[in-house]
Amino acid sequence: MTTLALYSNKGGVGKTAAAVNLSYLAAQGGMRTLLVDLDPQSAATFYFRVKPKLKRAARDFEGGKSLEAGIKATDYENLDLLPADFQLRNLDMAFAERKRSHKQLDLALRRFRKEFDLIVLDCPPTINILAENIFATADHLVVPIIPTTLSVRTYEQLLAHLGEKWLAGGRVLGYFSMVDARRALPRQVMADLREQHSGILDTSIPYLSAVEQMGLYREPVPAHAPDSPAARAYRALWEEIRGDVSGLG
Ligand SMILES: Nc1ncnc2c1ncn2[C@@H]1O[C@H](COP(=O)(O)OP(=O)(O)O)[C@@H](O)[C@H]1O
Ligand SMILES: [Mg+2]
Repeated sequence: MTTLALYSNKGGVGKTAAAVNLSYLAAQGGMRTLLVDLDPQSAATFYFRVKPKLKRAARDFEGGKSLEAGIKATDYENLDLLPADFQLRNLDMAFAERKRSHKQLDLALRRFRKEFDLIVLDCPPTINILAENIFATADHLVVPIIPTTLSVRTYEQLLAHLGEKWLAGGRVLGYFSMVDARRALPRQVMADLREQHSGILDTSIPYLSAVEQMGLYREPVPAHAPDSPAARAYRALWEEIRGDVSGLG
C-alpha cells in the first residue's frame, strides 16, 4: 500500500486535476485506489459527480471509524472516493485539539491500508497542522510547480521545511504544471530549478484547455478524451511516478 499526496502550499497549481487524473489512471491499471478529498472546497468530489452521503464533520477523522460509511464508489472500476464538504474547514482545529495532533490523519486512514493498493490525498493549500498530518501519512509528496519565480520559491521553502530525511529519501516528486512552453521565462525557470534540485520529474503538464474544461465535463481527462495531449501528459506523468516509487507495480 502506497500513499501519495498531491500537495502544495499554493492554490490553483493543478493539485486536484492531477489527483483526479492520476487516481483514475492507477485504477485503470488495476490498482484498488482510494482518492481522499481533504479540501473543504471539494473540487475532486465535484469532478466525480459525487454528493457526500453524510455531512462529514471533522470529528469523523477521530480514529476514522465513521469514515468508512462515507466512502463512495465512482463511475470507474477500482476507484473509490472519500468525498469532502465544507465542514472539513475545521479539520485543522480538530487535529490540534487532540493528543498526537500530527498523527491523526495517519491513524484515521490506517484502516484502509488493507483494502486499497493506493491512497491519493488531494490536499488543500495549507502549511499548518493538517499539512504536518499529510507529511506524516504520505510516502511521497507529488508537488505541482508552475514555472514562475514565486511558485519556485514556495517549492524551495517546502524543501527547506521538510529537511534532509525527505530529500535524501527522494520522497518529494516535483513536476512542472500548467506550462506554457512558448514563453521564454518559464523555460528558463524550469532549466534553473532542474539544475538545482534532483527531485524534479522529467514529465511536465502543459497548459491545455482539456484540463481547464474538466469542470464542464466532470470526468478524468483520460476517460473523457483518452487520445488528447492532456491525457497523454497525465499518462506519462503516472508512468514516471510509477517508475520512481517502489510498490506501484
Ligand atoms: N494543465 C492545465 N491546463 C489548463 N488549466 C489547468 C491545468 N491544470 C489545472 N488547470 C485549471 O486551473 C485551475 C486550478 O487547478 P486545480 O487542479 O484545481 O488546482 P489546485 O487543486 O492546486 O488548487 C482549475 O480551474 C483547473 O481546471
Ligand atoms: Mg485543489
